[in-house]
Amino acid sequence: MGSAQTQGELWGARAREWADLQEVSFGPLYDAALNAAKAATGSAVLDVGCGAGLALKMAQARGAKVTGLDAAAGLVEIARRRCPGGDIRLGECEELPFADNSFDVTTGFNSFQYATDPVHALSEAKRVTKPNGYVVVAVWGAADQCELAPYLAAVGKLLPPPPPGAPGPFALSAPGALEALVGKAGLTPGAIASVITTMRFPDEATTVRGLLASGVAERAIRNSGEDAVRKGVSDAVRPSRKGDGSYEFKNEWRFLLSRA
Ligand SMILES: C[S@@+](CC[C@H](N)C(=O)[O-])C[C@H]1O[C@@H](n2cnc3c(N)ncnc32)[C@H](O)[C@@H]1O
Repeated sequence: MGSAQTQGELWGARAREWADLQEVSFGPLYDAALNAAKAATGSAVLDVGCGAGLALKMAQARGAKVTGLDAAAGLVEIARRRCPGGDIRLGECEELPFADNSFDVTTGFNSFQYATDPVHALSEAKRVTKPNGYVVVAVWGAADQCELAPYLAAVGKLLPPPPPGAPGPFALSAPGALEALVGKAGLTPGAIASVITTMRFPDEATTVRGLLASGVAERAIRNSGEDAVRKGVSDAVRPSRKGDGSYEFKNEWRFLLSRA
């Protein structure tokens, strides 16, 4: 069984906050990936784990025909509103409801790793992508290049204990890890690109509201209670507070451009 039901409930819990406060910062990553995959007028683009649909909206602005799939109903609703004419479905990334060889470009921004079996999810991405089409997989960059690493560590401590050997948030940023993963799915890995994004919040309350919007934070809330997560997040991010009380986090993302 896939992870859609569990993950969908977690990521959909604070959908509006995710869209307004976190996803908004990822524009440069989406832009670089869509450029690398040559998404343009007439391209058929699928975004797997499309969340609130900003990447698809940007692909649509380039003239692409867009399709998205996500497990979270609240995020799918936002994505549908943002991408009129797009085909945005609620579903499971390990069972893509699309015919073989349907898309020129298939993307997954920080999404494939939430599948129960990421290799299976990627083999589904390969199946629905045209032969030699592009599959883009984006993940966190190196932990020491991510100013949100202390936040991730604080939330990690409030999650249920992981099974032995479970991968952490930066597992796929280890050298060769992403190439090995996509290779197991039968994709042909190409180049890895690095993109820095900047997340900005005007004050502490908005920072905490924004950072509580992820599915991982929601899981920590369900495990440890909202007060504990709020405190853990506030304490972890305090060093990033600027003189005017605002917060800014620069983070490295990496995406691997593969061929189906
Ligand atoms: C970190 S969020 C990224 C969302 C979006 N790609 C972005 O860049 O904002 C991970 C997304 O993967 C989705 N997801 C997790 N497991 C999934 C599954 N098994 N099937 C489909 N979507 C899934 C979640 O609902 C969530 O929207």
